[in-house]
This record gives sequence, structure tokens and C-alpha cells, in this order.
Amino acid sequence: MKTEYDFFMIDIEHLKGKKTFPFQLYIFNPAHKKYSMFLNGNRPLTKEHCDFLNFMLERGGKLAILKNQRKTFLTAQETEASEIPSLKDRELHPLEKERIMNIKLKEMYDEKNGAFSFQSEFEIACQNDNFEKIIENARMEILTFSVTMSPTVSLALHLAKTHLLQDNYLNRIVATSYLLAKNCNIVDQDALSDIICGAYFAHLGLTQTPLTIARTPYNSLPTTERSLFQKHTILGHHLIKKSQLNISERCKKIILEHHERASGGGYPAMKYGEQIETLSQIVGSVSHLFEYSSGKITGGKQSMKSVIIAMKSKSYLPGLEYDFGEKVFQSIITLINTDKIETKTSSEENADLKKAA
Ligand SMILES: [Fe+2]
Repeated sequence: MKTEYDFFMIDIEHLKGKKTFPFQLYIFNPAHKKYSMFLNGNRPLTKEHCDFLNFMLERGGKLAILKNQRKTFLTAQETEASEIPSLKDRELHPLEKERIMNIKLKEMYDEKNGAFSFQSEFEIACQNDNFEKIIENARMEILTFSVTMSPTVSLALHLAKTHLLQDNYLNRIVATSYLLAKNCNIVDQDALSDIICGAYFAHLGLTQTPLTIARTPYNSLPTTERSLFQKHTILGHHLIKKSQLNISERCKKIILEHHERASGGGYPAMKYGEQIETLSQIVGSVSHLFEYSSGKITGGKQSMKSVIIAMKSKSYLPGLEYDFGEKVFQSIITLINTDKIETKTSSEENADLKKAA
């Protein structure tokens, strides 16, 4: 994983009109805040390359060289380090130093523990009722996020550092939402940070409703109390807006939309299909999975596996939802391998579930 610490920036003039270089050229894209390979070593810089380079530079892009090719660059371009502003030493901010250390720690952790498989670790975590490894893995990854990207990314980093430490109900939802988002091919740190902050703040609105409402299983709430419970989406969104917390609009949307469902049967706005932000569906589906499994909806605990089996077969169970949009639904139902031969069949699991509900 290459970060801004792996590169130094140069101006186009530092290429000195040459057409081939013994070092690689990268371009920093300000829209995605990512570095991409632009020209491999000893390949000709064509007119098409130059047109694209000028196009990117006009839009705030930057030319970058890998720091480990610094000597090759300086020798080939007959340039002194003092002529390249980005090569002048600067004191790193303590948060930048901490991030470099976290990147190294993550590399050592991966080397020691091997590749992390979310699905198999999720299944083990559910079987043992222990999510420490899932939470630890999510935390170690989040701690490598950029410290200069945006206020929401910085907040996600702060929350991971100060709160994503113990195996508790909220941290299970935050870590699973984060890893499920990655499973849906969401890799952008801005989006992942929206998921992390959105998952932490989604139920902030419940602090403004009577405690008995939050403690009563949803299916047992009378109509008036049920409407009050549903207001937690609007109240949470309102609280965040009033607090003037500097977080992205998309993150606020997650708080407001996490109970919207693709079929239009959700709340507060009964949005449907693509009107609903995918990130909201991710936080909504993971929250629902844990709420159903822990008994917050029916009053009875269910194994995570039986809930996923019921979701997968779209069985009717009181309060069970599965219309999270096709992409998120497919990711949710593959969280646990439900095709393996077990002592109980899926129909038996469903029968147990109906009985308990
Ligand atoms: Fe909620």
C-alpha cells in the first residue's frame, strides 16, 4: 500500500524536456487523492502522455517520484536535492509519525497472522460469540488512514483509536459495517470513514426518546411508541446538524437513511431503489442483522447463522428485513457459509427461529 510518504513531488520543468527516464513517474489525482503509475522506467514520454499530463496538472494533479528512486532521479536529471522543494526535510506532525508507525505495525501484524478472511473470521466470531479479531483487524486498518484527507477521515481515525478497542455491541456493528463495505469493493478512505462515523452515530437519536422505547423489543412496541422509535433517524440527523460537527453530508445521510429499504417500505422518507445511498444500506443491513440476532426486534435471541439463512431464503419472519439492495444483500447472505452440512438443516433452523419469534 503506497501512501504520500512514499513519494516526493516534482514540477514538469524538472523533467528538463527529456523523453525517457530511468525512474518511474506517478501522478497524484486530487479527485481521488491517490497516486497512479503514469510512465514506467525507460518508456518514451509520447505526445499523448504529455497531453494527459497537462490535463491532470491543470486540474491540480501533481507529478510524483518514489522516494526509493530519489538517487536515480537526481543523477539522471542532474539535479540537486535542494532544487526540489518537496525533498527539503520537514518535521513531521506527531499524527503523521503515528500513522507511519501504524502502517509498519499493520505490515508486521499481517506478516505474523497471514491473510485475513472476513467471511471465515465472521463465522468463527459468531460461533464463539467473540468479535475481538474482527474488531482488531478493522481498527488496525483504520489507524493507517490518511491524517490529512478530510475532517470525516480524521474523525474515523480518532473514533477507531479511542473507541474501537473492546468487543461490545456497537463495535461489532462498526467493524462489521466497515469490513462489509470493503467486501462490496468500497476501498476509498472517504467512503469507509463515512461508514465508520455513520455506524457510530446512527442511533444517537435514541438518546432523545424515552429509555423504555429503546429497551422494548421493536415488535412489542405499540403504534405510538413505534413511531417515536422510528424518529431516531431524524433526531440523530438533527442532532449532528445542530452540533455543527464537521462531517460529510454523505455521513449525515447514513444516519438519516439507515432504515430506508430498497422496496420503499422503510423510513423516514420511504425512499426506494437507487434513491438510497449504498453506504446507508450497508450500515442499515448490519445494524438489522445484529438487532435481529440479539433480540432487539423479537425479544428472543437467534443465532446469526439462522438469521442469515432466513434472510437468504427470504423467509417470512416477524420483523425480519432483507431488502437492502441486491449488492448489499448478496454480501450479507454470504457472511456465513450456510451451505455446509450441519447437524441441523436450514429448515430446522428456520423452524427454531419461527418458534422463538
Ligand atoms: Fe436504527
